[in-house]
Amino acid sequence: MKFDMTLNGKNISIESSPLRRLLDILREDLGLTGTKEGCGEGECGACAVIMDGMLVNSCMVPAIQLPGKHVLTIEGLGSPEEPDPLQRAFVEEGAVQCGFCTPGMVMASRFLLSQNNKPDKEQIRMGLAGNLCRCTGYERIFRAVERAAGEGYGETIEPSFFLSTPGSFELCENEKNRIFIPHSTEEALAILKTHGEVITLLAGTTDIMVQLKNGRKEPEALMDISRIPELSSISLENDSLQIGSCSTYSRIYSNPVVQSHFPALQTAARLNGAITLQNRATLGGNLMTASPAADMPPVLMALGAKAVLRSTSGSREISITELWTGYRTTVRLPEEILVGIKVPIPSENSRQIFYKRGSRSMLTIARVSLAGYIEIDENGSILEPRFAVGTMGKTAFMLEDLQNFLRGRDLTEDIAIKAGNIASGSVNPRKTPEYRKQVTGNLVKKFLLGIIEERNQKEEQ
Ligand SMILES: Cc1cc2nc3c(=O)[nH]c(=O)nc-3n(C[C@H](O)[C@H](O)[C@H](O)COP(=O)(O)OP(=O)(O)OC[C@H]3O[C@@H](n4cnc5c(N)ncnc54)[C@H](O)[C@@H]3O)c2cc1C
Ligand code: FES
Ligand code: FES
Repeated sequence: MKFDMTLNGKNISIESSPLRRLLDILREDLGLTGTKEGCGEGECGACAVIMDGMLVNSCMVPAIQLPGKHVLTIEGLGSPEEPDPLQRAFVEEGAVQCGFCTPGMVMASRFLLSQNNKPDKEQIRMGLAGNLCRCTGYERIFRAVERAAGEGYGETIEPSFFLSTPGSFELCENEKNRIFIPHSTEEALAILKTHGEVITLLAGTTDIMVQLKNGRKEPEALMDISRIPELSSISLENDSLQIGSCSTYSRIYSNPVVQSHFPALQTAARLNGAITLQNRATLGGNLMTASPAADMPPVLMALGAKAVLRSTSGSREISITELWTGYRTTVRLPEEILVGIKVPIPSENSRQIFYKRGSRSMLTIARVSLAGYIEIDENGSILEPRFAVGTMGKTAFMLEDLQNFLRGRDLTEDIAIKAGNIASGSVNPRKTPEYRKQVTGNLVKKFLLGIIEERNQKEEQ
């Protein structure tokens, strides 16, 4: 395909196959070798660039999503002869160590400072959490960011997400009927009606690009749905929050309604990879990969969400618990798109939680994930308990025995301990069963005991 985009402030024309990575276009086609390749799987941040105002890993961005985009690379900040103040701060603080990770670190710092020009140490640490430095010389890097911030560095980069309608592009003869970039859901559904059996939908592509790297056969036909405005909208309607399937994690956790009513969803979105991933990966992509280790299914199950699937024949709304049919399979028909999720606004007397435990505290795939939601009446009786776990079977599932045990009981310490034991007994994972059973029980107990402690504190006041 041929298309136009803006690179470091200049309009350029590109010719590329649709799944070629932005990283390769930059390095191999355009000779901009400042952007480096480390893992090629979205984990190290060496390839980070800023696209439409957001930090992204260029190894995760396929060419089909580039028409009309604005990309800023390390070369766009300054040159060796004339470095910009952030690059200078890195040099002066001795933060340029192996040199290989540095461009990604600088771009992540540029993004961080554009969002928050006076970050504290923790915010700097979090801002650079997706940029791995194997020589572990993070301190100098953090000092460089502090220095640049102290010097007043941090011009805002407006995320132009909503403006970023696909720019002009032309398809080569062999790509017609194979590559689709619709502007609206209706247009996308009409295309799916004819070509649905062979089309692979692309949203944030963080799952698909890794699969392609690991040898998955290239799809016969592609449709980019990431730029359809309706699919990225988040709105409050009739006591439920409607989240478009292409909403990215960073849009979800920045949403004021999510922040005020859905702390469990906010936590899950924040724990999903690093910022570069959160700026690309979508809720719909997470649900439709149907991975048992995915973070969003248990949270949405505990929150009582519904999934909305649409085709040209109409919409159907199903309980989120009915979306998956087995390991990596869903009820979606080839002509359908998951357009979004509806999550009811929780009652005022409710509490919710999402816990994720993995091999490290951050940037980890869950070994145990547990989401809980509980409504309690004014006398302390449990009205509506909902618990769901991920990673323990072919799909995420609800802990029915635990829910039945808790419903209608008064929440006491004794009940919390018994509930933990029931939760442990309700899961039977194939790998490391003892550890995961115990952690599941402990997390349920922790959640319930926390509610009791909060209630006791209130009574003492
Ligand atoms: C470094 C790294 C870290 C990760 N960390 C986590 C993590 O901590 N937790 C976690 O749960 N996952 C994690 N993932 C997995 C992945 O990022 C998420 O599952 C992500 O949400 C997928 O969304 P996407 O938009 O990138 O999906 P895509 O790759 O675009 O699509 C995934 C699948 O969903 C389909 N699809 C997408 N949208 C729709 C739709 N609207 N309707 C129908 N089908 C659709 C696509 O056709 C494709 O089959 C990680 C991945 C990487 C590379
Ligand atoms: S090369 Fe590691 S994230 Fe892209
Ligand atoms: S700066 Fe590259 S490994 Fe530390």
